[in-house]
Formats: sequence, structure tokens, C-alpha cells
Amino acid sequence: MIRPIDLVKGKVLILDQTALPGKKKYITISTASEMADAIKTMKIRGAPALGIAAAFGVYLSARTNRDLGNIRADMERLRSSRPTAKNISAVLNMIEKKLTKSKDPAKDILKEALKIQKDDIGKCLAIGKYGVRLIKNGFKVMTYCNAGTLATGQYGTALSPLYAAKKEGIEFEVFVHETRPYMQGSRLTAWELSEAGIKNTLITDNASAYTQIVKQIDLVIVGADRVAKNGDIANKIGTYGLAVTARYHKIPFYTAFPATTFDPECNSGNDIKIEIRPEEEIRFIKGEKNTHDRTAVFNPSFDVTPRALISGYITEYGFFRDVRKMTAFFRGKVDDRS
Ligand code: MRU
Repeated sequence: MIRPIDLVKGKVLILDQTALPGKKKYITISTASEMADAIKTMKIRGAPALGIAAAFGVYLSARTNRDLGNIRADMERLRSSRPTAKNISAVLNMIEKKLTKSKDPAKDILKEALKIQKDDIGKCLAIGKYGVRLIKNGFKVMTYCNAGTLATGQYGTALSPLYAAKKEGIEFEVFVHETRPYMQGSRLTAWELSEAGIKNTLITDNASAYTQIVKQIDLVIVGADRVAKNGDIANKIGTYGLAVTARYHKIPFYTAFPATTFDPECNSGNDIKIEIRPEEEIRFIKGEKNTHDRTAVFNPSFDVTPRALISGYITEYGFFRDVRKMTAFFRGKVDDRS
């Protein structure tokens, strides 16, 4: 199974996700600004993978900068590269603590970045272990965007229970939404599921509610970019609508994420900053005009799904239905971590 980011012979390599599924192209990232740029332009994306990318970005900065002020400036550049994923700031806050005490920042931050990557892979495997019991033989599962191997250290969050189910010999089918405008579903999720030999079917985002009925979907599972204390989650734009239709059709709706995505400072989804992406992403399709020049464009990258629509939370610490238990548990863990 591939990794979206890795250190190979001293070089930080990322798999350029804008080139998939056509080309499997790794690019070398040599500076923190190159990393911030790769994040902004979606070459690497997905909340946990963004956290790992930010950690390697700080390492690249420390490799060439002796001045802590310059390293901190690069950290702020990375922090603001994408505002919704909590994992970026969670990782940068952990690194800041190491940086303050370090005598050799480049060495210590590389060690920390590799640890963050290794830990994330372990968390994803644990999510798979706790989530696999939701997947039964013959199930039809719906997912959204990409919360798989490409969005994490490896294995994914929402997709990890599916990889675990495949390993256990459970037979199931996944319905993948295209996920306009960046097509993370058709380009990335369908690609990684197909490469793993998991049966998957692509649908347009507007076929979602109808597919739930005609294909008799058993459950929906998505990732999360930030989880508030009251259990509201921010995830890819369209997740909220998917949760509304799933509730209307009495289909359980689950979200999977590691503790680094939980934000103890966010009381509810109202406090989550939603990234607004460039209007060109909608104004043009493959370089061709998609709308009239005088038409305004609104391109939010995420939306908030309220706690009331979420049937359960799958984390590396277990499966939670009770949001108060989960957040109390998490708060302790998040504090331990930082
Ligand atoms: O804009 P993206 O592609 O970074 O959005 C990704 C998502 O919305 C994922 O569902 C989320 O980050 C969870 S990834 C394990």
C-alpha cells in the first residue's frame, strides 16, 4: 500500500494527488514554502496527511534555518495553508513544544515528524479495528470525498474499516461520490479502492439520495477535518447534505477520525473556520468556461454536519455513540498529547 508522503534517502517525497488517477508521480519537496504551496494546491490533502506534511515542512525549514524566528515564520505559513483541518495546528503545536527545548532542531523535528507519521498509521489501523464490526457480508457502504490511505499516513480513517473488512474476507460494495469540484472521490477513493481489489461504484454527487434508495445502502462512513466539543464535524462540502438524506432514509451515518482532529477549543460547528477555495475551481472545467462571467461563485470547501445526524464516531480509542463520553475521553488524551 502506498503512502502519500514519505522520507526516502533523506528526501521528502509526496505523491502528487492532482495527477491521479492518470499518473502516479512523486515530487520532491525541498522547502517549507514548497510544502505550504503543495498543500494549498491540493497536491497533498486530507486532514491527517496535512498534519504529517506540516511536520515535514517544519523539518525542511529547520534543515536550512538556524534562526528560530525564521522557522516559526515557516510554521505560520504552514498553519495558514489550509484553515479547516485541525491536524495541521495540532501537529504544529506539538512541534512548537519540541522546538523550544531543542538544541538540534533539524534532528529533533525530523524525529518528531517520523513519529507523527508512524503514530498516524497506528491510529488508522486502530480505527479499522474498531470500525470493522460495522461492515457485514453483503453490505453496501457509501463514502464521500477521500478519507483513505491518500488522506493519512496510510490506511485512512473512513476507509480503514473497509480495508480491515476486506482482510477479514467480508464481501461488500462501496458507493463513491465524485465529490465536486476537486473529484477526490472519482480520482482518489475509486483509485485506491480499486487498487486494493475492493468492489466500488462511482456516482455523481447529485445521484446520492436516489442511490441510497435504489441500491439499498446499509451505512454511510466519512472522515472529518475538525470535530467540535459538542460532536459537530466539519468535512468535505456535501457531507451535511449526505447526512440529511441518510437520516431521512434511516441509514446510519458514521464518521471516523483520530484524536488529532478533535478540537477542544471549538464548542460547536459554528466555531469552525470553513475554507473558501478559489472561484476558478468552479468557474472552469478543464480550462473551459463553465458559467457566465457575470455569475458570482461561492466555493466553500467544507460544511458542518451537526451531531444530531451522526450515528457514531470511530476513533483510535474505540467506537462512541455518546458524544459526551467521547469528548471527555478525548480531552484527557488531547491534553496528554500536547
Ligand atoms: O479538501 P480535502 O481533500 O483535503 O478534504 C478532505 C476531506 O474532507 C476528508 O474527508 C477529511 O480530511 C478526512 S481525511 C482522513
